[in-house]
Amino acid sequence: MPLVTAENISKVYRLGSEQVKALSNVSFSLEKSSFISFVGPSGSGKTTLLNMLGCLDRPTEGRLTVCGTDTAGLKPSQRADFRGKNIGFIFQDFNLIPVLSVYENVEYPLVMVQNICAKERRERIMRMLDAVGMAEHSEKRPSQLSGGQKQRVAAARALVTNPSLILADEPTANLDHETSMKIITLMKSMRDDFGTTFVFSTHDPKVVSEAEHVFVLEDGKLVREEA
Ligand SMILES: Nc1ncnc2c1ncn2[C@@H]1O[C@H](COP(=O)(O)OP(=O)(O)O)[C@@H](O)[C@H]1O
Ligand SMILES: [Mg+2]
Repeated sequence: MPLVTAENISKVYRLGSEQVKALSNVSFSLEKSSFISFVGPSGSGKTTLLNMLGCLDRPTEGRLTVCGTDTAGLKPSQRADFRGKNIGFIFQDFNLIPVLSVYENVEYPLVMVQNICAKERRERIMRMLDAVGMAEHSEKRPSQLSGGQKQRVAAARALVTNPSLILADEPTANLDHETSMKIITLMKSMRDDFGTTFVFSTHDPKVVSEAEHVFVLEDGKLVREEA
């Protein structure tokens, strides 16, 4: 069974009397442990689509199944719980908490997870920081890190709860080319090591070359799929 199935999903934003159709009849499925990119120019619907996959917003029409759950059936109160258990997020502006150390930023999503003891928590955090090459910087604050280092910490934070799916909306938009390629290859090696499905969006054709499966969006429509 695929990890994600989208059947004819559409999203209409209403702005007063105006309507913006951000996604039109988009269908696809994503396999477990795959490394996928949604590509398209600004305004093509990438963020809208990732927000649906992350259950931050819901389609106006169509059916979207994520990790075996029909997302339309989730009550607002259940969505946060579903996200916490199944999904990790990586953002283009990193979204680290400035007053917390690197270690504490990665620990943060685990605060919601009840059933792990302090020792296991510490081991898990250090394993993740090690996986992204940031263990030696664990006591630093985000302001002391480069953009690439911040995104490594964000990747560790996304993975620390062991989610099935990690969503990264333009994770390299604020990084130079060389650092961008390093972050994408890091994400790919995390997929190899942990079996997590990674979905990232980008409008940078060079970054796309690392994806195993590419979906091209234009004006809210899925115009092409490249294996
Ligand atoms: N909250 C919103 N309200 C109204 N229109 C929106 C909203 N978010 C996005 N849009 C519109 O939906 C379309 C797709 O936007 P978006 O998903 O952000 O594209 P991308 O991430 O590819 O740049 C654009 O026309 C955008 O202006
Ligand atoms: Mg966007």
